[in-house]
Amino acid sequence: MLVLGIESSCDETGAAVVRSDGTVLSDVVQSQVDLHARYGGVVPELASRDHARNIDPVVREALARANVGLDDLGGIAVTNRPGLVGALLVGVQFAKGIAWARGLPLVGVDHLVGHLLAVFLRRPGESSDEAAPRPEFPFVALLASGGHTSIYHVDGPTEDACRELGGTRDDAAGEAFDKVAKLLGLGYPGGPVIDRLAAIGDASRFPQKAPMASVRSLEFSFSGIKSRMARHVADHGIPKDEAEIAALCASFQRAVTDVLAKKLVQAAEMNGVSRVVLGGGVAANRELRERVRTMANARGIDCFVPPLASCTDNAAMIAYAGAARLGRGERDGWDLTATSQTSL
Ligand code: KG4
Ligand code: ZN
Repeated sequence: MLVLGIESSCDETGAAVVRSDGTVLSDVVQSQVDLHARYGGVVPELASRDHARNIDPVVREALARANVGLDDLGGIAVTNRPGLVGALLVGVQFAKGIAWARGLPLVGVDHLVGHLLAVFLRRPGESSDEAAPRPEFPFVALLASGGHTSIYHVDGPTEDACRELGGTRDDAAGEAFDKVAKLLGLGYPGGPVIDRLAAIGDASRFPQKAPMASVRSLEFSFSGIKSRMARHVADHGIPKDEAEIAALCASFQRAVTDVLAKKLVQAAEMNGVSRVVLGGGVAANRELRERVRTMANARGIDCFVPPLASCTDNAAMIAYAGAARLGRGERDGWDLTATSQTSL
């Protein structure tokens, strides 16, 4: 079965055609990053308007690249939670329109479930070649994005099979990356630029303590490290020297990725699970990917890290999660609506 996925929860308009086995036929992402960059974060009203402008061409492009028509589809999956409600509504209403016009089944998908299942996508031509193993259930997954940072026990491709083991008490990890980048004058989004600078920075120059690293709980806190970075900038100003900025980025990233990796592996061990998975935009981070691999391997835990395109927001993961629902015969009605809250 082929499923059209539609994603508009935040600042990317996405559409993808995916087979229910995870094969990605097309995956189009129209980013709004340039639109929001000068505000240092996503402006909800601008996001909704841009989704409304782009959704039709993005969906058409996804169908064209997959070389399929609407009549070839087995159903439509759309992100309907969590996210910016105005932004979500654009995708939900568009999906309903197509589904109604063509008599196609429609399912709403929780964006977080999409991130947790993105590891199952098979993208043709990628280095993690088609034969690369995918995790069996259950696995323990770290979902770290701009809006969420939690660890889940995942026992199947459905939301009722995902149980939260711990999460952040304050900021999401991606939010911390974005805020620290903003106060260092590095622009938005912060994750990729900090990642790039950290690679050339000396992480031992401004050592940071990993937040809540010593506690055996699976909770996180990133507001303290962000405040310490803000205090450093308030006391010393934004460094003029690139090596110093890079060192600040490297120290911050080391502390954050260290605690994320440690708690993910700890969560797997505490739950007797021998597989860990990464998901969400922060999972694109080079150091996090390396640290999780190293720590997991050292303890005999298998580690599954999706390619970068599957970590950041995309509609292919929504199509895949929707295919699992459609495959079980589930359907949503025309009263499907958008909500800001996750159901996980
Ligand atoms: O999953 P995502 O694309 O959107 C949300 O659902 O939030 O995640 C976006 C977040 C942003 O905070 C961005 O700064 C962060 O992911 N991010 C990264 C990297 N690439 C994106 N954080 C750290 N390192 C990266 N390479
Ligand atoms: Zn996301």
